Amino acid sequence: MKNLLSMEDVSPREIYEIISRAQEIKKGNYNKFSSDKTIVNLFFETSTRTKSSFEMAEYKLGIHAIPFEVSQSAVQKGESLYDTCKTLEAIGADALVIRHPDVKYYEQLKNIKIPIINGGDGSGSHPSQSLLDMMTMYEHHGRIHDLKVVIVGDIIHSRVAKSNATALEKMGAKVYFSGPPEYQDKTLDVPYMELDDAIEVCDVVMMLRVQNERHDRRMSMTNEEYNEKYGINEARVARMKDDAILMHPAPMNRGVEITDACVEGDKSVIFEQMANGVFVRMSILEQLIQGDEDRALEKSKVMA
Ligand code: CP
Repeated sequence: MKNLLSMEDVSPREIYEIISRAQEIKKGNYNKFSSDKTIVNLFFETSTRTKSSFEMAEYKLGIHAIPFEVSQSAVQKGESLYDTCKTLEAIGADALVIRHPDVKYYEQLKNIKIPIINGGDGSGSHPSQSLLDMMTMYEHHGRIHDLKVVIVGDIIHSRVAKSNATALEKMGAKVYFSGPPEYQDKTLDVPYMELDDAIEVCDVVMMLRVQNERHDRRMSMTNEEYNEKYGINEARVARMKDDAILMHPAPMNRGVEITDACVEGDKSVIFEQMANGVFVRMSILEQLIQGDEDRALEKSKVMA
């Protein structure tokens, strides 16, 4: 694996390798990189979890993160994404983590030689979130194969829904979408199930944030009405299977897609997802940066 751009490019075997290495890292079995490595985290959209947990993962591995603020950069003078990345490559960065509002922004970066890790492209994909979600499911259920997973809410604007549907189906899970008809994505071949049916049969219930910032107009329902029809609340949690888990990539709209009581309730693994995000991102960084170094070494041996 040279880059992590979309779950479409990651094989089931690579998914298992990243998850199982993340589990080892979680037990404390890791070392800082033995040689100096630098990375730049470029966030053209806001982030708390993805940015902070990549920074934490980089710190734990001894990778130096070079500060980069879009608002203070030459992007403000009109410099393109490609020229920005080419510059960071030229000054010696070993890898780039990028979040950008344009779907598949990475297609314009094919000439960048250093690894690129997609931290989210608009409503396109969010592969590191998908990997941490699968690690969390694997820890709770001991498998991904055959799990029934319902992803609920604002599907059309959700890169998490798309990455997870792609990856989970590859891993042999059965994925369903649920939520308001106007938030469904008809281009995706994923069956729809009513939430009240899904809640009783699924092993994983994954709620999504209503992404008001990506909507042309505000919801036609009140928050309470949305929760009553399409959200998770204590009454619905009570009908979940005994071993089912409740997930949310966050940030959350408390009182809309999820009530306060459910966020830290018995079924919720939401903060475990965030904790696992650091281990999965360490595993990704090891794989891409160490793997890149190993590939360069092999190439130099062949040329010698
Ligand atoms: N889950 C997630 O991507 O959160 P942030 O937007 O805070 O990074």
